[in-house]
Amino acid sequence: MKTIGLIGSGHIGSQLARLAVAHGYNVVLSNSRGPETLAALVKELGPKARAATSNEAAQAGDIVVVTVPLKNYRQVPVAPLAAKIVIDTNNYYPDRDGHFPELDKESTTTAELLQSHLTNSKVVKAFNHIYAAELTTHGQPAGSKDRRALAIFGDDPTAKATVTHLIDEFGFDTLDGGPLKESWRIQRDTPGYGPRRTAAELRKDLAAATRYKQAG
Ligand SMILES: NC(=O)c1ccc[n+]([C@@H]2O[C@H](COP(=O)([O-])OP(=O)(O)OC[C@H]3O[C@@H](n4cnc5c(N)ncnc54)[C@H](OP(=O)(O)O)[C@@H]3O)[C@@H](O)[C@H]2O)c1
Repeated sequence: MKTIGLIGSGHIGSQLARLAVAHGYNVVLSNSRGPETLAALVKELGPKARAATSNEAAQAGDIVVVTVPLKNYRQVPVAPLAAKIVIDTNNYYPDRDGHFPELDKESTTTAELLQSHLTNSKVVKAFNHIYAAELTTHGQPAGSKDRRALAIFGDDPTAKATVTHLIDEFGFDTLDGGPLKESWRIQRDTPGYGPRRTAAELRKDLAAATRYKQAG
């Protein structure tokens, strides 16, 4: 696991790229406008980084992060991501993304939508409830007192173990919240969405989460 591909290189993608390079990974960045528009970020990140098309980033990554506005998730390339671990950071904001009836009804989750698009990939929900700036400022070594925890969800235990290891390298504990269908517990407006939490605190937040329809 040496190369991380990024589909989306905005607030979250660029921060994850900084963490990845700082921890010895190669990164292949991509966005919607083309590799040449990522020249400044590639320069900042140095020789371990390059920019490419999203198809190439998907092909190059041992792990690939999808971190785009949710409305564009169907544009994520499918074939080059087959059998790969795909980290999904995405959240649903109707003002930005337009309305997805299945999300409004809560008959599915954002992570399950991406999984149904990437049928043969192993999607792991992660990094969706931490502000981008905090990715490079809140990390601490393993074993630190009150280390911040990040929730993950996924249907493939091996993929979750790999992402747990990555998150630990990046400076955070992990709380396994269960399968993708449970990932609504860390969606927008739930107790764990945003604040700094230890694993024990985050566990309580996930248990206390309510569906939007219950919240009224
Ligand atoms: N910002 C946060 O603190 C935060 C925290 C947790 C989770 N999130 C979630 O993570 C996702 C990304 O958020 P963000 O704040 O990083 O967004 P952002 O700053 O707007 O960046 C989005 C990135 O996705 C790229 N993109 C858009 N459509 C694409 C496509 N079809 N193929 C490839 N790349 C594409 C954009 O490229 P162009 O600029 O070239 O269009 C841009 O690089 C969102 O779902 C957001 O809700 C954000």
